[in-house]
Amino acid sequence: MQVFNRGAELSAALGNEKVLTGFVPTMGALHEGHVSLVERCRRECRRVVVSVFVNPTQFNDPADLRSYPRNLEADLKLLEAAGADFVYAPSVEDVYPEPDTRQFDFGQTDKVMEGAHRPGHFNGVAQVVSRLFAIVQPDKAYFGEKDFQQIAVIRAMVRQLQIPVQIVPCPIVRGADGLALSSRNALLTAEHRAAAPQIYAALKAGVEFSRTATVAQTERFVTERIDSDPLLKVEYFQIVDADTLLPLDQWREGVATRGCAAVQAGAVRLIDNVGGYGPYDK
Ligand code: PAJ
Repeated sequence: MQVFNRGAELSAALGNEKVLTGFVPTMGALHEGHVSLVERCRRECRRVVVSVFVNPTQFNDPADLRSYPRNLEADLKLLEAAGADFVYAPSVEDVYPEPDTRQFDFGQTDKVMEGAHRPGHFNGVAQVVSRLFAIVQPDKAYFGEKDFQQIAVIRAMVRQLQIPVQIVPCPIVRGADGLALSSRNALLTAEHRAAAPQIYAALKAGVEFSRTATVAQTERFVTERIDSDPLLKVEYFQIVDADTLLPLDQWREGVATRGCAAVQAGAVRLIDNVGGYGPYDK
């Protein structure tokens, strides 16, 4: 496994040879969720490239950027074991020699849910991922459904910028208690960590409830269930069309659904999502 701090050097090492190249962009503090992406990439591609970069332009909250966990040494061990060939772990200056002033517009995709609650977040994601794609020029890029909306934004971006890469969505990896693995889980207090599995439990209970209830009733049910724990506060819970991400007003035959939540657990903001809501999407 080779580790690069400079994009120009990574590009040179990758060369122009036509080799099926897979790419997994990350912000480090790696866990089994990230590892599952790298292992899938390893199975499907000749060359596996992983980036570890805490991208400042996607943080709308400076405190969140400051507290974001970083541990490159441990990350490199995990990546070596998972079969990565190339790691790109750059400085901010290497990725942004000068500020990126591009403003993207992905229509509805980046306006709802995370887009509405974290202004500028997806613009920053598109800035960094487009730069990383330019350096790595992958054939396939792997993204976790943990960040369900991010996948839709990246798909819109590659369409808009006509980047020839296949986006591969990968299922959410959870702990034994159901909590979706996240780098931010490490920042939870013991109390909030104990409460956090209620989020997934409520999302799942909502799926059962939704078989005989309306969209609005289901949204209320899940929100109240999570909020009934005094340590958790729902920022939003929304059931959307899984393809367009637009909010659903009623269940529709043939439309796949996704229930997406953002929950404040003390100082830490957690997101999670589950599919299969309503009487049709079983
Ligand atoms: P990060 O949060 O580090 O996540 C990197 C990738 O790992 C994302 O595609 C994310 O969805 C996936 N991932 C995280 N937790 C997961 C889990 N429990 N199960 C499955 N996949 C999981 O997402 C980002 O970084 C950044 O926005 C990035 C795309 C790197 C751009 O900066």
